[in-house]
Amino acid sequence: MQAKVVIVGSLNMDLVTRAPRLPRAGETLAGQSFVTVPGGKGANQAVAAARLGASVAMIGCVGDDAYGEQLREALIREGIDCQAVTRVDGESTGVALIVVDDSSQNAIVIVAGGNGHVTPSVVDSFDGLLDQAQVIVCQLEVPMETVGHVLKRGRELGKTVILNPAPASGPLPAEWYAWIDYLIPNESEAAALTGLAVDSVATADPAASALLAAGVSKVIVTLGEQGALFATSARSEHFPAPKVKPVDTTAAGDTFVGGFAAALAEGKSESEAIRFGQIAAALSVTRSGAQPSIPAASEVHAYTP
Ligand code: RIB
Repeated sequence: MQAKVVIVGSLNMDLVTRAPRLPRAGETLAGQSFVTVPGGKGANQAVAAARLGASVAMIGCVGDDAYGEQLREALIREGIDCQAVTRVDGESTGVALIVVDDSSQNAIVIVAGGNGHVTPSVVDSFDGLLDQAQVIVCQLEVPMETVGHVLKRGRELGKTVILNPAPASGPLPAEWYAWIDYLIPNESEAAALTGLAVDSVATADPAASALLAAGVSKVIVTLGEQGALFATSARSEHFPAPKVKPVDTTAAGDTFVGGFAAALAEGKSESEAIRFGQIAAALSVTRSGAQPSIPAASEVHAYTP
């Protein structure tokens, strides 16, 4: 089966503790639980796209340790094509140290490990996968040089190109914008990309306009419980979020991106794809962990507000 959605990105083992609140600098806090959970923004988006109906291939790198094998196996169990998940000898697999507090907020530190080895030449050796794709999705947990390379190649091949600029710490290279069809930042990423404060639908609007002026075709600013703002040069529209009781917001953004990509690949309209991604993301925040929290398409279809 040809992969309709190809994800180029990170695989991390998430080392997750729950604590009453996030620790302050220099503080030692007693946590309530500890689990290891498959994660990484790239792998989470691949799992989301697969569970939500797409045929998916993943391009990424893991180390030669047990975590690498476990992450690969987790993707294979989802039916994801892992021929391009490459093992790097002598390297550790990417990890994310995550604390989730009682109000379901999280703080994350990532160590790239194998993700740092996703070079343009690794991607080039799987160019056939990109060529077969309908939708190509990238994030920013692999080297920037590689992300730019994939976006450019996606544009050359005439694919639908999605960038989730996460995590973002500053503006994107100017030439990238023309290669992206859908740029999907959250509030803090939109703020980092534009230098504007973004914390509401009203403040997301000028940030989206700045990103459109930079040359991207379409922007979706995700705003958590405040929904999402979709903007093109012709119009902008607010999509309210489904109301749920949050347990853990980890991978909610990834679930939205994967669900949106899967829905586009299936031929749904942009509005339908946004609503589909939003319901999937809302269901994911009602459960703990990254990949374990991502719902199946049947759950999204069965959702009633
Ligand atoms: O977006 C959530 C993900 O960010 C986690 O799974 C963690 O691995 C970090 O990459």
